Amino acid sequence: MSDNISYYTKKTIESWDEVAPMHDSRNKSLYVDVANNNFNNLNPDFDSLIDRFDVLNKSVIQVCCNNGIDLLSIRNKGAGHCVGIDGSKEFIDQANKLSKFAGQADIEYCCSDIYALPEKYINSFDAVVITVGVFNWMPDLNRFMEVCSSLLVNGGHIICEEIHPILNMYEEGNPSYITNSYFRIKPFRDTDGLDYFCNEKYVAKENYWFPHSLSEILMSAISNKLQLKHFKEIPYNVGNYCSDLEFSDGNPPLGINLLWQKNE
Ligand SMILES: C[S@@+](CC[C@H](N)C(=O)[O-])C[C@H]1O[C@@H](n2cnc3c(N)ncnc32)[C@H](O)[C@@H]1O
Repeated sequence: MSDNISYYTKKTIESWDEVAPMHDSRNKSLYVDVANNNFNNLNPDFDSLIDRFDVLNKSVIQVCCNNGIDLLSIRNKGAGHCVGIDGSKEFIDQANKLSKFAGQADIEYCCSDIYALPEKYINSFDAVVITVGVFNWMPDLNRFMEVCSSLLVNGGHIICEEIHPILNMYEEGNPSYITNSYFRIKPFRDTDGLDYFCNEKYVAKENYWFPHSLSEILMSAISNKLQLKHFKEIPYNVGNYCSDLEFSDGNPPLGINLLWQKNE
């Protein structure tokens, strides 16, 4: 792993470890909610995409799975062997706790930087799942897509829901407003913390957010033998970033759903 990538990912993971207790305290009802066998945290369009792919008995790995509630939702739809990867030890602990409360303790969680995954996962999965708020933490998106592709068996799929890259142009506010070039490359530095639930600012460890354009996302997939099978722009809030825009007259797309298939 290049020094630059490990510098940034270390900062990212420290920030997520730092905010983990706050997210946990904001989400106490989750420990009750996940006990329902039909627990489903997926946004409607992504939920339909998962159904269309049909996860029944399929092996699924979610990269950057956080507290695992999206993976748990997919397991509840009948997925087979499920693995969640996240660099934050604090969130992996929460994921393990939540899956026990859900009666799904056999979901495997692994604390690892995505750029330094254990070899044993290579070429092992029918599906790689990515849900909102992952691409922008990646200093090297092409290398990230290479890792995701390497996890799949030939013919396997990446099922992805992400924040629309156009949101990199916006600053949150009331209302949120455009202030950045769509083609910005320089990472955003942040020290306000990662409280996405209440947007409470706190004096936080610094982290870096990497803007990636839609063409960069699509080209990084093409470079890694991934064929696009489905693409949809989503008009509603998927990641609590600039969520007010959903109700603005100039409603930009707020999310994207993508389905890729690996073809060697
Ligand atoms: C916004 S959360 C993703 C949440 C996801 N949508 C979910 O709820 O399932 C981003 C996650 O990416 C993880 N992450 C960021 N960079 C990482 C890296 N290099 N390796 C592994 N995990 C990483 C963070 O620890 C954090 O839990």
